[in-house]
Amino acid sequence: MTDDPETLRARAADALLAARARTELLTSCVEEDDLTAQHSPLMSPLVWDLAHIGNQEELWLWRAVGGHDPLRPEIDSVYDAFQHPRAERPSLPLLAPTEARGYVADVRGRVLDILERAELRGGPLLDSGFAFGMIAQHEQQHDETMLITHQLRRGPAVLTAPDPPVTSDGVLPHEVLIPAGAFTMGTSAEPWALDNERPAHRRLVPAFLIDTTPVSNGAYLNFIEDGGYHDPRWWAAEGWDQIRRHGLQAPLFWRREGGRWLRRRFGVIEPVPLDEPVLHVSWYEADAYARWAGRRLPSEAEWEKAARHDPIAGRSLRYPWGDQDPTPDRANLGQRHLRPAPVGSYPEGESRYGVRQMLGDVWEWTSSDFLPYPGFRAFPYREYSEVFFGGPYKVLRGGSFAVDPVACRGTFRNWDLPVRRQIFSGFRTARDAEPEAS
Ligand code: AVJ
Ligand code: FE
Repeated sequence: MTDDPETLRARAADALLAARARTELLTSCVEEDDLTAQHSPLMSPLVWDLAHIGNQEELWLWRAVGGHDPLRPEIDSVYDAFQHPRAERPSLPLLAPTEARGYVADVRGRVLDILERAELRGGPLLDSGFAFGMIAQHEQQHDETMLITHQLRRGPAVLTAPDPPVTSDGVLPHEVLIPAGAFTMGTSAEPWALDNERPAHRRLVPAFLIDTTPVSNGAYLNFIEDGGYHDPRWWAAEGWDQIRRHGLQAPLFWRREGGRWLRRRFGVIEPVPLDEPVLHVSWYEADAYARWAGRRLPSEAEWEKAARHDPIAGRSLRYPWGDQDPTPDRANLGQRHLRPAPVGSYPEGESRYGVRQMLGDVWEWTSSDFLPYPGFRAFPYREYSEVFFGGPYKVLRGGSFAVDPVACRGTFRNWDLPVRRQIFSGFRTARDAEPEAS
């Protein structure tokens, strides 16, 4: 990225604008009572996300960067995610939809004035416009959260988008060998990378093989039809408990009807497309499938090496395809499409090792717990990452079709509880390479 202040300023303004356009779409396509309703105890009412977006922007850009007095200090606690779990949020004194819209617009107007005059250097919050990039990413993350709420919401479809273009180009090898060797994991250079992606450090990764594409619905269906959900051999103990307790037999949103598998996707019931990456599976389901297939999930380091190491140049790239920002022919990102593309799509986006769809389409569960990199420093607040380290969370990598490019790169780390499946989660599998014959 550039150091030129005017380019940085334009980039920050564009990122904030793009996020707001998406937020407005997601909060204007339903009636007011839909905005204040709770569509699932796992999610906030949409109107909470909306005002929380504005409140975070007020905290970091109006108050911290701008140095101004609070606009609405009395609502801070209502929109503090740590004070109120999601299930509780509908009963809080939330701003009504009209008030929430007015609040976020007011904050945004003031913030754009600050951005126009800000010196984008002179401290870690300001350098390269970090705080503006962080807030644009925060809004885009909540836009993905709101899209999850839309997926959980009952009733007729309100969102539509064209299907991803057909880009697959023939038969691919099932898996790719990643030879043993060290690579650079994480980043110290990417200006808008968040604290948990830092710092860059060397990791030695033994040789392994990784799937060329995410696991498809068709492949996952073989696991189901082979009795996978009825055989405790494949399941981690807590995963087995979860599927027993809730009677789970398939990914979330699937149902079997008249001998066919159907799924609900943003209010539409359709046959499960066999060639699409499997979506809405928990870490336990991914882990069980991998064991059934005689394989395992990749670790986070394996995933990142396969995604961004360039063995010829001997360095890590920003993205699988190189250092250039994402384009529509390289990855299915940004809610342009409301579904993943078929496995094997996006040849233009493949990594140097020939691995496909590492970015976009579906978040990919890894075998790794969410932990800090050596030399981690919480910035700018402990509650973004640090308080989650060492907890029960598993790392997801790559980003789904619902993630905006501003919140997605080869180093980006997401995390969630291993039971979660309302998120846009899928996976690919890996295995150890056989030791070389001596
Ligand atoms: C990084 C997706 C786990 O949604 O909990 C939003 C992002 N942090 N507001 C989340 C986040 C604060 C976070 N994840
Ligand atoms: Fe948030």
